[in-house]
This record gives sequence, C-alpha cells and structure tokens, in this order.
Amino acid sequence: MNKQRKVLIAPSILSANFANLKEQISIVERAGADWLHLDIMDGNFVPNITFGPMVIEAIRPITKLPLDAHLMILNPERYIEQFYHAGVDILTVHVETCPHLHRTIQEIKSYNIKAGVTLNPATPASLLVEIIPYVDLILVMTVNPGFGGQKFIDKMLEKINTISRIRDNFNRDALIEVDGGINTKNAKQVFDAGADVLVAGNSIFKSKDIAKALKEIRKSTSR
Ligand code: DX5
Ligand code: ZN
Repeated sequence: MNKQRKVLIAPSILSANFANLKEQISIVERAGADWLHLDIMDGNFVPNITFGPMVIEAIRPITKLPLDAHLMILNPERYIEQFYHAGVDILTVHVETCPHLHRTIQEIKSYNIKAGVTLNPATPASLLVEIIPYVDLILVMTVNPGFGGQKFIDKMLEKINTISRIRDNFNRDALIEVDGGINTKNAKQVFDAGADVLVAGNSIFKSKDIAKALKEIRKSTSR
C-alpha cells in the first residue's frame, strides 16, 4: 500500500544558518524539497522567539517552494492577513491557541490559502473530530514546540495512527504532516503510521551535506 503513497519533505529553516539563508534554501530546493516549513514563535505560547511576516516576505521571491507556516503564537487570528500578504501558501494554527478555531480556519481559507491545525503532544487527537472536515492539513507535533533538535516522542506514533484513521473517516483530502525529531532512523515508522509530509530541521540543516541528508530521509521511507 505504501508503494502508492508519496512522502513529501518539508525542511524547517529553524535549524538553518540565517546568515546564509538564501543559499541554504536553494540547496534544499535543488535537492528536491517539497515544501519549506517556517516556524513562527512569539515567546509566549512557546518559550522561544523566531521571525515573522517580514522574513517570509523576503523569502517569497527567492524560492518556488510552497511556504508552510506553523504559527506557534497566541491570538494567531490577528495575523492571518499579514501572513497572507507575506506570501505563505499554508497557514497552520495550534488548537491550544484558538478558542474560535472554526472561525479562524474559515478566515484563513477566505484568503484562498491552505488551512492547517496542529496539536501539542499532550493534546488528544479526539479534539480534531469537529474541525477535520474544514482543514487541508493536520500537523502532528512529535516534540513540544519551541525548539529544533529535540528528541522524537515515540509514543506519538500511535497518535499519528489514530489521527490517520480519524482523517480517513472525516476528510480523506486532508494531509497529515508530522513535526519534531524526524531523522533517517524514524522517518519510515512515521510514514508508515500515516504521515504524508515530514518536517525536518536539525537532521537536514545541521548535517555536513544538507542535500544528501534530505535525500537520505526520503530514501529511508521506501526501504
Ligand atoms: C518545533 C518546530 C519544528 C522544528 C523541528 O517547535 O515546530 O518545526 O523546526 O525541528 P527538528 O526537526 O530539529 O526537531
Ligand atoms: Zn514546525
């Protein structure tokens, strides 16, 4: 069955060298990356601060890759328009930050971009049931959000599987993306559990050979 499924790889620039961002993005693009994952952190919802729409606006003209923005910020609904104008293709919000999640998802979709929802490791998969029919993407966190280079939480494999079953029941078109601690050792398990898109930060950008590391992750899923 897996032979018919194609894995998408989304390198996360969180682990890239920001003084050399243009070159590093071009390396992953040439190496066959499918999306570029952009981690937006506000120092409130998560302990770390990264970058916002201005940096995305600067990246937009230098790559053809779909820009996949993961908002780890409080009140994300206040910034949808700015991220849209900055040029994102996919905007994903955390269920933990959205009391009016249905409204927020509708607002993202009103800009004709893809809308995603994501869950922290401790947030139950069942919270997705009511919103899945409306989303294009479900992002499953396999580390606690905030930092690159953390260890994959093995227990999350069961959750990916559960979410994959919920997806099959309620919205077959939604993609499942998995984020945190993915490397060549676990990528196949994650893919087999039901992931369509693999985010990888450290295991790609902290490697000596970025292009090779990306290709190795893809290859490891078909072994
Ligand atoms: C964590 C971020 C991830 C991070 C993944 O808060 O959401 O996207 O960049 O990095 P690695 O692959 O190093 O765990
Ligand atoms: Zn992320």
